[in-house]
Amino acid sequence: MAYTRNEIIELLRLEGKDKEALFREAAALRDETIGTKVYLRGLIEYGNVCTKDCLYCGIRRSGDTPRYTLDRQQVLAAARFAYESGYGSIVIQGGEIHSERHIDTIEQLLRDVAALSSGRLGVTLSLGEQSYETYARWREAGAHRYLLRIEASNRDLYAKIHPDDGMHSFDRRVKALEDLRETGYQVGTGVMVGLPWQTTGDLADDLLFMRSIDIDMCGMGPYIVSDGTPLAAYPGPIAPPGHRLDMTLKMISVLRLMMPDINIAAATALQAIDRDGRRTALACGANVIMPNISPEDAKHSYTLYNGKSTVADNSIGDLQAAWNENGDSLHFRRR
Ligand code: 5AD
Repeated sequence: MAYTRNEIIELLRLEGKDKEALFREAAALRDETIGTKVYLRGLIEYGNVCTKDCLYCGIRRSGDTPRYTLDRQQVLAAARFAYESGYGSIVIQGGEIHSERHIDTIEQLLRDVAALSSGRLGVTLSLGEQSYETYARWREAGAHRYLLRIEASNRDLYAKIHPDDGMHSFDRRVKALEDLRETGYQVGTGVMVGLPWQTTGDLADDLLFMRSIDIDMCGMGPYIVSDGTPLAAYPGPIAPPGHRLDMTLKMISVLRLMMPDINIAAATALQAIDRDGRRTALACGANVIMPNISPEDAKHSYTLYNGKSTVADNSIGDLQAAWNENGDSLHFRRR
């Protein structure tokens, strides 16, 4: 549906029976368009070293969290586990680093992952803003999907949640999304829901932004305070957890109605608010789940926000999963 901004705002304000109907409609449209099976991505938290200093994030450069980087054997063991378990694809996610050494290491890892699965394991990267050339090298080495959240599509809000240190630029982030498209990736973006200062109009604009750049995938989750970060000291009220959860679910449903054939992830942060959060998101139109397959130590050190490391339930259980499928975005294939 090609909703207007006002129509989206109205949908995001639905409550009670109307809200439940929105959730059901979005899930039914997903079933009709891409099927009922949930795509699996084994999430590998590669490292928490980061050159960025995002005011909300627990692994920001100036935080005092102990740093780690997985070694080659650890990444390949996790990738092999994902492949042998039939997950069909992995996500390699970590802090943003621009050194030549890092770029080389990732490139080599991608070749190793392709070799261990004869190129069958899907590989998504989520390693921040990089140059066009770096994106092209990683694409060539075997990555074919990339997640780079815009975080907030309102440039004033973006400026409020990132430091003014020359390292954070809204325009560069948008440019990075364009570079990802040009270098041949399936492109994913997303936002945090329930940020300080964020309005329902901003959230509607976020969805319109996603449609305007014609994304293939989306991952969005509730904003969760991360102790010790500058944004944790925000003096104003933020929406209660239940409200942020609900708003994220509505965002997922409305996006599904707007872009029926994209992949939408049930983000981990949902689970930090509600132990059934991810599962609920699947009932609201999401179709991707990312069980964390990082080594135990990494899980405890990849502390993006409070409660992150205690998100325990990785079970696929009775979900109708798309075993052994790499789960490409239908939207991308149709383009
Ligand atoms: N709350 C919710 N999500 C967060 N992220 C980082 N910090 C937080 C937080 N405090 C998300 C960002 C980033 C992803 C890796 O984690 O959206 O893109």
